[in-house]
Amino acid sequence: MRESKKIYDNLDALYQALAKATEDLIRVALAHQERFNLVLAGGNTPRGLYQRWADRPAGSLPWEKIHLYWGDERFVPHTSEESNFLMVKQTLLDNIQIPEANIHPITTGTERVEQGAAAYEKHLQAEFSEQLPRLDLILLGIGSDGHTASLFPGSPVLEEAQRWVGTSKAPREPRERITLTYPVLNNARVVYFLASGARKADAVRNACTRDLSEDACPAAFVQPKNGDLIFWLDRDAAQLLPAD
Ligand code: 6PG
Repeated sequence: MRESKKIYDNLDALYQALAKATEDLIRVALAHQERFNLVLAGGNTPRGLYQRWADRPAGSLPWEKIHLYWGDERFVPHTSEESNFLMVKQTLLDNIQIPEANIHPITTGTERVEQGAAAYEKHLQAEFSEQLPRLDLILLGIGSDGHTASLFPGSPVLEEAQRWVGTSKAPREPRERITLTYPVLNNARVVYFLASGARKADAVRNACTRDLSEDACPAAFVQPKNGDLIFWLDRDAAQLLPAD
């Protein structure tokens, strides 16, 4: 695993650099493969990145070759203000030309959350011919408690070593969540963590220094074994990092 940190004076500068880096990554990958499999983060931090993608001139990003997946989802309808799908729809999907077949939201319309997780896992298995997917880029946020995706401290899903998709309970509403598991996250070609603001500084330090247990900082155990891991941070979120 190759690991690095990129630190910017403010969120705007971070988004600008991140948008360029993701576009370059996609362009380079598509020079020798047909499709780019991109996993989107939920929450608020990635909004600005998705908006920048949406603002790019038509044709800048080859959306017809990019397939979008979600790293996690709240178990709510896709029309709910709490939905990560709706956030991506509003910031990105409604503003770009992308084939419907390239959009792979996490299933939340089932009776029980476990059924939604099983349905998404089945969909991924069909997409990737039952082979553990080696996704081209996984975007992840970090919670102030060290969670990432919906891998929350103390969640049984942290121990999941086989399933690709699991469930968890968030400490705040909406509590029922569906999430990709470590086996998928740690098989990625590239993982980008995004974090902004002083309230994330402690979690970012823990994720980068890895001094804590998996239970205490799930983000610290996202370590793509044959991939690149880059932390995209603003100065506030990076303020507790030890000097290199
Ligand atoms: C979610 C996200 C979650 C998020 C972190 C950071 O469903 O909320 O997937 O893991 O990335 O909680 O959220 P913010 O970017 O809003 O701080």
